[in-house]
Amino acid sequence: MSNTTKNIPKHVAIIMDGNGRWAKGLGKKRVFGHRQGAVSVRKTIEAAMETGVSCLTLYAFSSENWNRPKLEVSMLMDLLMEFILKEVDSINENGIKLSVIGERSRLPDKVNKKLDQAILSTKDNDKMTLTIALSYGSRDELINVVKVVSEKVLKKELNITEIDEKIINNHLYTFNLPNVDLLIRTSGEKRISNFLLWQIAYAELYFTDTLWPDFGKEDFFKAIEEYKNRERRFGKTSEQI
Ligand code: FPP
Repeated sequence: MSNTTKNIPKHVAIIMDGNGRWAKGLGKKRVFGHRQGAVSVRKTIEAAMETGVSCLTLYAFSSENWNRPKLEVSMLMDLLMEFILKEVDSINENGIKLSVIGERSRLPDKVNKKLDQAILSTKDNDKMTLTIALSYGSRDELINVVKVVSEKVLKKELNITEIDEKIINNHLYTFNLPNVDLLIRTSGEKRISNFLLWQIAYAELYFTDTLWPDFGKEDFFKAIEEYKNRERRFGKTSEQI
């Protein structure tokens, strides 16, 4: 990777897709793909650290994923717990702060317990924030913002005229994160799938045909290099930038 630190995205978000197809291609069960997907998660965290990205957000389980076969859901939950248990020391050693976004009340208690322990033990780290989106749906997140903000208006804690982007940002799960600069989706699908709809308003989108279990450090670096060469105009003209 080039060692220039110019134009490094602060916040990279990834839709990790293609685990099932990867496993099917090898004649194996879907869960085998998820297992290999966890290996890609580890490599991607390392690559993000090496790049100097300050926030990495991974879409691990959507609110719609609850509709998958029960066995696949419970295996994904087990895999997640196993990952946290196995990686928490290295996450700490690398100064990474762990955070989770999504409807956590739907997660099994044992998973929430492990997550809470890991979040607590990494809370003072400041090299990079690793956010895992679990039971996450962007529309649910926005509905929740509308409810909370409306309630504040009703209670006269907030005036309607005060509602602006900052107020919305402050009520999102991602209130402590900057907007997404680069969104990566693997596996050739070109969709957003209800992920961070508000937060990606001006993100650069990067799609790759690589299936998530095949995604490695070089793939991450390639996405970063492409990002660096894009011109972000935020609605302005080239000349104004
Ligand atoms: C999408 O592939 C992937 C998921 C729904 C699960 C993502 C989980 C992991 C990468 C492993 C564990 C995660 C962490 C954070 C340790 P898919 O199953 O929809 O694949 P398909 O589209 O080929 O069927």
